[in-house]
Amino acid sequence: MRTVSASSTTPAGRGPILGIESSCDETGVAVYDLAFGLRAHALYSQVALHAEYGGVVPELASRDHVRKLLPLIRQTLAESGVAVGELGGVAYTAGPGLVGALLVGAGVARSLAWALDVPAIGVHHMEGHLLAPLMEDPTLKPPFVALLVSGGHTQLIGVKAIGDYQLLGETLDDAAGEAFDKTAKMMGLPYPGGPHLAKLAATGTPGVYKFSRPMTDRPGLDFSFSGLKTQVLLAWQKSDQSDATRADIARGFEDAVVDTLAIKCARALEAAGMDTLIVAGGVGANVRLRAKLQAQAEQHGGRVSFPRPAFCTDNGAMIAYAGALRLAAGQHDDANVDVRPRWDMAGLPPLGARQGIENRE
Ligand code: KG4
Ligand code: ZN
Repeated sequence: MRTVSASSTTPAGRGPILGIESSCDETGVAVYDLAFGLRAHALYSQVALHAEYGGVVPELASRDHVRKLLPLIRQTLAESGVAVGELGGVAYTAGPGLVGALLVGAGVARSLAWALDVPAIGVHHMEGHLLAPLMEDPTLKPPFVALLVSGGHTQLIGVKAIGDYQLLGETLDDAAGEAFDKTAKMMGLPYPGGPHLAKLAATGTPGVYKFSRPMTDRPGLDFSFSGLKTQVLLAWQKSDQSDATRADIARGFEDAVVDTLAIKCARALEAAGMDTLIVAGGVGANVRLRAKLQAQAEQHGGRVSFPRPAFCTDNGAMIAYAGALRLAAGQHDDANVDVRPRWDMAGLPPLGARQGIENRE
């Protein structure tokens, strides 16, 4: 491949940063520039590919990332008006996620960075989610509490500074998104269940089915959603299984998850002595969760911030943004194509630290 240097006026790690997300079933690409904001972003969802299997098939996901990533990069660069040689760095999701899917993004990102002679950085997928609200609202600054609610994670994190993450509470079993997906599947809804269940719940009557708010009757900030899923299964099995009942059960389940998350968020803010909550991850797109947390913030005089729904679910913009911040702080990875299917966010270096994150452990 031809070697093209980054624009001579742009120091390495600055200027437009290409971001690549490929940790699961969405191929996301974006160009973000700390000086000019988001230049372009594009997403290719594999939902149709996995739908007939009722869940993500990892090998199919990897192969589809291989097919879609390069065309999506070309498309995003064209839309951004940034020539490939003007990129100041490349950011990619290094974990957590599906190993094969991650390797596709990491391999392409590292090769491109090497060819362009610009730095590359492996971004923690959940840090990408966590920072997405800041990308959307530059007035937002730590300290704050972050609620990360995705298909694989449900965590409350105390954020004193970017890169300074203290785990306050997390799920002991299923993640909130996973509970949405499994519950939807049990009631015969198509994959991916979360958004389908939420849509159905909007037509259900509140209070017809009342499920417990797990672990809210005792102190602490941890969650547990697997018992709730079982309660819903039993209610569904005992019911007439009509469309109206399905909607009422969906509404009861959604209300239980939303209330539980809201109660724990209020507790976490109080425990941390903070008044700002940010919400990120796919479940953050849930309309009822957004409304509930907004109402709660207004009641308590606090503030809550969410990214737009498209940046709650997986996307390349959050990876480009998180990577741009870390590259601008002088951090980068070495030349290995290295991914971390499991990766604890607490081990990330603070943003101020200038060491390469190759030393992360
Ligand atoms: O962050 P994300 O796109 O991928 C992961 O990193 O996991 O989150 C996906 C999860 C899925 O479990 C999906 O069902 C859930 O977010 N989700 C929703 C909604 N939209 C996506 N759950 C409830 N209501 C929604 N509107
Ligand atoms: Zn995600």
